[in-house]
Amino acid sequence: MEYGLIGEKLGHSFSKEIHEKLAAYTYTLQPLTKQEFPAFMASRDFKAINVTIPYKQDVIPYLDEIDENAKNIGAVNTIVNKENKLIGHNTDFYGFLYTIEHNQIAIADKKVIVLGNGGASKAIIGVIKYLKAREIIVVNRTPRDGTITYEDCYKDHLDGEIIINTTPVGMYPETDSKPIDIRQFSKCEAVIDIIYNPLKTELLLQAESLSMKAVNGLEMLIAQAKYAVEYFLDIKINDSVIEKIYKEWDC
Ligand code: ATR
Repeated sequence: MEYGLIGEKLGHSFSKEIHEKLAAYTYTLQPLTKQEFPAFMASRDFKAINVTIPYKQDVIPYLDEIDENAKNIGAVNTIVNKENKLIGHNTDFYGFLYTIEHNQIAIADKKVIVLGNGGASKAIIGVIKYLKAREIIVVNRTPRDGTITYEDCYKDHLDGEIIINTTPVGMYPETDSKPIDIRQFSKCEAVIDIIYNPLKTELLLQAESLSMKAVNGLEMLIAQAKYAVEYFLDIKINDSVIEKIYKEWDC
């Protein structure tokens, strides 16, 4: 393939449609099993690819270069093959930054709660740090370094001002579930859910019912794709295209 996406399961992906609205190439969805992944990366048989779950960290050893931003985050979602040299970037970072800025969510000096500690969470935490949050609490189902449990979050962090869901809880087809009950967070101003199917998760519906700002993951998805196309083709694309594609989707 020339341009496309690798990941383990891609059946749900909107990326082909988004990329083909942004650029003139054919974008191939290439599912790879864990057994197939090493040979694919070693072959370097592509012009540029995006990388999704669960390979955003696994691709790093195959790269010749990684930009500063992706290195700090520790995850790569965009690889460009430049004269047989593989260069890694992370456009999830820029996609999330765009969403925060476009929706005018103030992060500076705020206490931010991030649910989930996977690949997407890492880029998002990078943005939150860059925007100078006062405090970042990472909550995870499985205890990991630097994360706390949901139980401890309810006990000690009900003063969170911004809540960001990076877990798949609430995603199609299990749309009835919610990762957290935000009624208890009396200082919460805004909730961002990186899920885009459905556009309004139970979590976001609850946020809206409490008059909090509620932002879904579709804009971030489109924005990260726009920045990926810029790396793929070494061009600049006006940000206005993100809203254009978003609106076409939403109606
Ligand atoms: P992504 O790249 O989208 O972040 P990921 O790397 O698979 O995907 O990470 C998914 C995150 O959602 C993880 O933090 C995961 O928690 P675990 O570390 O405990 O697996 C979290 N997650 C997945 N399913 C969950 C569930 N049912 N409840 C709570 N957290 C869940």
